[in-house]
Amino acid sequence: MSTTKNITHRERFLRACRCEAVDRPPVWMMRQAGRSLPEYRALKEGYKFTELVQNPEIAAGVTLQPVRRFGYDAAIIFSDILVVAEAMGQKYELMEQGGVKMAFQLNSKADVDKLDPTHVLDHIGYTPEAIKLVRKELGDEHAIIGFAGSPWTLASFMVEGGSSRENTRSRAMLYNEPKLFRALLEKITDATIAYLKAQIDAGADVIQLFDSQGGTLAPNVFWEISGRWMQQIVEVLGDEVPTLVFARNVHHNWSEVVDTGANVLGIDWGIRLSDVCKEIPADVAVQGNLDPALLLATPEAAATETRKILEEMRGRNGFIFNLGHGVPADANIESIKAVAETVQKWKPR
Ligand code: CP3
Repeated sequence: MSTTKNITHRERFLRACRCEAVDRPPVWMMRQAGRSLPEYRALKEGYKFTELVQNPEIAAGVTLQPVRRFGYDAAIIFSDILVVAEAMGQKYELMEQGGVKMAFQLNSKADVDKLDPTHVLDHIGYTPEAIKLVRKELGDEHAIIGFAGSPWTLASFMVEGGSSRENTRSRAMLYNEPKLFRALLEKITDATIAYLKAQIDAGADVIQLFDSQGGTLAPNVFWEISGRWMQQIVEVLGDEVPTLVFARNVHHNWSEVVDTGANVLGIDWGIRLSDVCKEIPADVAVQGNLDPALLLATPEAAATETRKILEEMRGRNGFIFNLGHGVPADANIESIKAVAETVQKWKPR
């Protein structure tokens, strides 16, 4: 029997992905840099967000910031899901007042035809480069998470022309012009596979797909518009590394999220983890799902709620502690620390 004592952070993370026993659940946080760390804010003074992402040395440095500060088991590479749109010919920028803006909206067949998914790495090779630099720094001690947006989530930003609450334009397009929408999803899927392959080759230990907009789809089109494209990506890459799928607000059909073939499901904070576990096979791991608002609450409250989740998941092999969405920009550093330390000191058995 393999021991779970004295394992590296990386092994702990990978074992949890495979539903093997671990000494305690691994912990990391989505959008872990966010705008909450002073060292990140200091960097942001001198650069635009896209400039930080496009510079491998800086991106590697930002990736390491929260790992050094909080001792997370895994580092998620600092980049953005929108770089794949940029690689196909649609640039993006972050707006001062929050949210993102694409250079234009996709309106017509001509717009979709212009997108080129075949030269992705000419444009966004900076992320694999950053992964190589992070690997040099971390050695085998910590796991590195590569990522991309799900084809649907990225398509929604591209059609809306930026952040949107409801994705009404993109949902109308998928019903009005199913062929065109399918062509768009196909292009994004091809580009995403090339991008993720390069991340794996550069040293990513696992790949996470963010379907943050999955819950804006009607349940009866979720599989056709989002699930099956994620399945395609998992099918191509899943033999190489474990895969994680975070499909936000898709509570109506866990079986379709399971059908993507992902090893780990990321769960948002709108549902109990134990309820999700009743609906999914025991060999699929779960990741989640602390309410991110607790990072704005006191360290004591954050630690108390963290313990409740740990208790709820006690004894389930295949559990990774995380937030139920990203770190809020104004998160309290002491509360982040309280959450991380509570998990790190936990004795599960
Ligand atoms: O943990 C990490 O820092 C990893 C890197 C990462 C970022 N974005 C950096 C980022 C990851 C994994 C993402 C994913 C991402 N990006 C998603 C999916 C996950 C989710 O949170 O739902 C989406 C939808 C995006 C697109 C995006 N990027 C938006 C809508 C925004 C603006 C958000 C806002 O609150 O205004 C971003 C900006 C962004 N991406 C930040 C970071 C750290 C904030 C940067 C800053 O303000 O300095």
